[in-house]
Amino acid sequence: MCGIVGYIGDEQAAPILLDGLSRLEYRGYDSAGMAVYDGQKINVVKSKGRLKILNELTHGGETLPGMLGIGHTRWATHGEPSDTNAHPHYNSDESIVVVHNGIIENYLKLKKKLEAHGYEFRSETDTEVIAQLLDFYYKGNPLQAITKIMHRMEGSYALGIIFKDHPDELYAVRKDSPLIVGHAKTGNIIASDVPAILRYTRDVYFIENEEIVRMTKDTMEFFNVDEEPIEKTSTRIEWDVNAAEKGGYEHFMLKEMYEQPKAITDTFSPRIKDGKIVIEELGMTDEEIRAIKKIMIVACGSAYHTGMTSKYIYEGLARIPVEVDLASEFRYRNPILEEGTLVIIISQSGETADSLAALREAKKRGARVLGIVNVVGSSIAREADNVMYTWAGPEIAVATTKAYSAQLIAQYLLAMKFAYVRGKLDDAGLASMLDDLRELPSQVEMLLNNKEKIQKFANRYLAAREVFFIGRGIDYAISMEGSLKLKEISYIHSEAYAAGELKHGTISLIEDGTLVTAVLTQPDLYKKMISNIVEVKTRGAFVLAVTNTGNTEVEKTADYVIYIPETNRYFTNSLAIIPLQLFGYYVSIGKGCDVDKPRNLAKSVTVE
Ligand code: G6P
Repeated sequence: MCGIVGYIGDEQAAPILLDGLSRLEYRGYDSAGMAVYDGQKINVVKSKGRLKILNELTHGGETLPGMLGIGHTRWATHGEPSDTNAHPHYNSDESIVVVHNGIIENYLKLKKKLEAHGYEFRSETDTEVIAQLLDFYYKGNPLQAITKIMHRMEGSYALGIIFKDHPDELYAVRKDSPLIVGHAKTGNIIASDVPAILRYTRDVYFIENEEIVRMTKDTMEFFNVDEEPIEKTSTRIEWDVNAAEKGGYEHFMLKEMYEQPKAITDTFSPRIKDGKIVIEELGMTDEEIRAIKKIMIVACGSAYHTGMTSKYIYEGLARIPVEVDLASEFRYRNPILEEGTLVIIISQSGETADSLAALREAKKRGARVLGIVNVVGSSIAREADNVMYTWAGPEIAVATTKAYSAQLIAQYLLAMKFAYVRGKLDDAGLASMLDDLRELPSQVEMLLNNKEKIQKFANRYLAAREVFFIGRGIDYAISMEGSLKLKEISYIHSEAYAAGELKHGTISLIEDGTLVTAVLTQPDLYKKMISNIVEVKTRGAFVLAVTNTGNTEVEKTADYVIYIPETNRYFTNSLAIIPLQLFGYYVSIGKGCDVDKPRNLAKSVTVE
């Protein structure tokens, strides 16, 4: 996500900020900026694009003199990437300046309140609301103003703040977004992540939720939300810089798999209000939702697989017919888009050439297009009629994991919303599904923590020539993604098959010892799946089954069983995919492949 660096000391701040920000570049960002106090005023320079531009604009920091400053790399959430939306953000008279990581969920409400008091806003960001809210409460005591806004803000934040009236102080505060501070030789420094600080000190303080830091160039004090001083001890960082960028994980893919609980929560929680699903950005009235005659989901790669899963949910739950198509096929097949068709384009990057072309084609034919996109301000996000963002944060590993999981959640929300509005899901049904949805993050975490079991199993298959994945219904869609994960990063040929289709060809490929992964999460299909497992076992297959807790019957047929926790039948993909991602990952690293950058593949496919 975004990056924060702040400095107060005896050296020029801007070069230190630029250096620190460059160490956070790996996190992904779309704009960057700095604010430095020059002895009279706080000067801000910010720009859309790479850090290189900020470097050039300030001549490596030279044109921003001063020894107190804050810097930021922004990954857009509220408002497209632009010079204006880039951080830092000021209050109206430019006496308070803020950089922010995280999302203020009630920012619109706060903004309205401030507007009613005559405040005007320059940007579309939630961060500017923070600067203006500080202004509103500031009566000469920064600490007091900070605690006041903490009581009013909902959501997550790590903030670096400068008050012009207090030119010898730098403030920082956090809630649910990481922040660390450290004593450097020539002053004090704050950062959102360890790599930005390692060059200056290895002894850091990890700021906990709702803790505030007040720093001068020599001192560092910590307070709680009641303005009471608190004691903290520092931690010595032993990691090397490379490891730190991966947050201590060996690879980005593993780190991103571990970020899935957060990606899931961040995608659903802002959209559940008072027990109802509120998707303002959908821009559709209930009447328009009731008028949907058909949904056409168009995407590539893993995003297409999430579409395959959601087809079963839109149809089963909301009773809306769904067609899922690969973008590269859709764009050339003269599709029929009758009135009442909602086209949904799903894309992590928002830049995939075929998906973008499909979007344009659909619009040209008069369809309403909804984008489900991870990168804010990307082409698909800009060109779709409406965009629903997945809040997975930047994804670096080529093989998607957390963006995939967030795409599933976005579609669960849409399907539940549509079903509810169309009278196919009642209040009790919705409440029970939302309860299950809220459980998913901890259930995913539990499955991830079981990784050693999968690692051991994976190590037995490093020499496999091919692997089959079978399932029915949603489980077929999960199998497609499980198969893709394995083949793209381990270079082992694998194929996903609808289990009922086995007899029509694939079964002739099963030999002694062939690994078949069977996914069984839909109770009404257990028996059918068990018959399919028996069929492949009779031909010598070794069967790994992924099924729901309690379905112990499968142990009689499968050779190895992984259980997933109980959830709503429509949400099982979010859990069953975790062991399959881990399997692909461990086979890949066991074989010594470059798991984060598999050969011949690109993260964002911007050419046809
Ligand atoms: C590439 C990536 C996949 C991704 C697909 C679609 O192939 O490696 O992980 O699923 O593109 O990308 P998009 O950005 O549109 O989701």
